[in-house]
Amino acid sequence: MTDPQLMQLAQEARQKSYSPYSHFRVGAALLAKSGKVYTGCNIENASYSPTNCAERTAFFKAVSEGERAFEALAIVGGREGETAEFCAPCGVCRQVIAEFCPKDFRILLGAPGKFQAYTLEQLLPFSFTNESL
Ligand code: THU
Repeated sequence: MTDPQLMQLAQEARQKSYSPYSHFRVGAALLAKSGKVYTGCNIENASYSPTNCAERTAFFKAVSEGERAFEALAIVGGREGETAEFCAPCGVCRQVIAEFCPKDFRILLGAPGKFQAYTLEQLLPFSFTNESL
């Protein structure tokens, strides 16, 4: 699985976004060390706070299937009707990523054909993790 392929899967997952309130559509594709890819989209709620981000949907699907080790995460997001340009993961999602991934875990942001790779350490420096306890 190449980085562009993972971005493409995130783009396809974005099409499943359930976002009738924000109209902001996000897709994620999480590559596990097993080789399997788990996709996710944001899932909103009329009560707002139960909303789940695309990244956490992907992680929770993977972890609930027994995965514990991950290679990379691709994220594609943007306003409905617009071509996604860049969507950074929210703070809560960064914390969930930190629960399962090392500092050098790769996070791909942008859109298929135009994206940049960051490490978890770059996006969440000085993090509180299981090593802190
Ligand atoms: N959202 C994500 O799915 N991932 C992010 O990293 C940023 C925000 C969703 C949550 C909500 O459904 C919408 O985008 C607007 O915040």
